[in-house]
Amino acid sequence: MLLSELAYKKIDREVSKFPADQKQSAVMAALAIAQDETGWLSPALMQEIADYLGMAAIAVQEVASFYEMYNTAPTGKFKITVCTNLPCALSGGEQAAQYLKKKLGIDYRETTADGQFTLREGECMGACGDSPVMLVNNKRMCSWMTNDKIDALVEELNK
Ligand code: FES
Repeated sequence: MLLSELAYKKIDREVSKFPADQKQSAVMAALAIAQDETGWLSPALMQEIADYLGMAAIAVQEVASFYEMYNTAPTGKFKITVCTNLPCALSGGEQAAQYLKKKLGIDYRETTADGQFTLREGECMGACGDSPVMLVNNKRMCSWMTNDKIDALVEELNK
């Protein structure tokens, strides 16, 4: 097994929310739980989840590759997703992305040599008025990201 007992307990809790013959409805939650534990969703891990939920592996891969929040390749400890959709792009999002790229020395979809950071470009996060907006590991929203705030975020995550 590639996941811990605790992860499977969490997945079981999600599965229990659906009728017994519809375990596959918990696939998104199961992928999120798996990713929280392992950092990314390897083909072997997706196969394991598929087997557990009684699904075809390709169906699990389709879900994982469709949504931006799932990491289907090895990812740095911190994935920073920058919103560059139009409202943000017009309100400093592009500039913030350029600053962060230069600071980390990487482009989108790249990971720093020390494995700390992966940079991604993301779709609208529903916080257009807070631009520039960034999301850390799909969970922590960072708003109004001036250069100073980007410096502070990177410093904090590097501790
Ligand atoms: Fe960036 Fe909406 S366009 S949060």
